[in-house]
Amino acid sequence: MLADVVVDLQYGDCGKGKISHAFCRQNDYTHVIRYNGGCNAGHTIYHEGKKFITHHIPCGVFFNIRSVIGPGCVIHPQKLLEEIREIEEAGIPVRKLLKIASNAHIITDFHLAQDKKDETIGTTKRGNGPAYRDKYDRKGVRAIEIPELSEYIIDMYTELYENEEFEKIEILFEGAQGFGLDIDWGDYPFVTSSHCTVGSALLNGVPPKCIRDVWGVAKVYETYVGAKAFEGIDPVFDKIRELGEEFGATTGRARQINWLDFDLLSKAININGVSHLVFNKADILESLERWVLFSGIHQFEFNSKEDMEMWLTGKSKELNENIEIFFSGDKERI
Ligand code: IMP
Ligand code: MG
Repeated sequence: MLADVVVDLQYGDCGKGKISHAFCRQNDYTHVIRYNGGCNAGHTIYHEGKKFITHHIPCGVFFNIRSVIGPGCVIHPQKLLEEIREIEEAGIPVRKLLKIASNAHIITDFHLAQDKKDETIGTTKRGNGPAYRDKYDRKGVRAIEIPELSEYIIDMYTELYENEEFEKIEILFEGAQGFGLDIDWGDYPFVTSSHCTVGSALLNGVPPKCIRDVWGVAKVYETYVGAKAFEGIDPVFDKIRELGEEFGATTGRARQINWLDFDLLSKAININGVSHLVFNKADILESLERWVLFSGIHQFEFNSKEDMEMWLTGKSKELNENIEIFFSGDKERI
């Protein structure tokens, strides 16, 4: 068994969808597995010129790869069925490829109603927190209990360890949310209710040794959606929001913007063991000719894209000298 992991190093919305989509095209994966979160996630994918926003469904479906919603995820059945229908209508054979781990948990309408009342941390109101709460309180509902999902249900152990269809299982793990929203490592309580690090992928049933590459995804600036005050004071952030189309893929909320925080990034690189680092949206700062970042309380202002990239490359290599770094300004390609 072999696995690559795509993990977000900031607050979600760094472009994991793009990276996963690109990898499915390049590699011979037998499985793409979503390992955390539910329909709070919104992955923007450009496939053959068309824009798709997926919430539950892993991007393997676009490439004829078996796509699994893993046991670490939570699912709202109605929303998932709607999503399946929409993507099927665009000509993608989702029903043939999608599988759901029998032990994934269900977001019930009760969970949804409870989350809708949240006025504390600014959740996506998709029932995520209450579903995970009931899972850990041992009062949850599992996917296997929902008749409407029966055609998709698999036993995760059998799929990974007793699968006679594939000679060798090769997995792309597609994470949701990001390090700054992780239940343990994020800015609690302004966090989501699942684990958003590489460890979370392992919890879905694979041994640590099978991990090959860890692709950490960041942006050259930061965005956050939620109730805490996050945006910096600088009119340039309005421009970044507009040019970077920084509005939530799930809720449409305006994302708050700030400069990249290298301290947060360092922690995320270390804890996830990032081997490949992608900085997305590199084109946005370039068009505004402002290159700024934070490291702790220090703010650094650079004269050019090259200067900022050199700084980021040098500092990232201090954390892992073998790390491979990419700056990307393209919607479809790395
Ligand atoms: P919840 O996951 O809906 O409970 O929301 C908790 C926090 O995580 C809120 O600040 C949400 O805006 C944020 N959040 C959850 N999912 C995503 C995502 O996919 N992208 C960005 N922020 C998210
Ligand atoms: Mg998103």
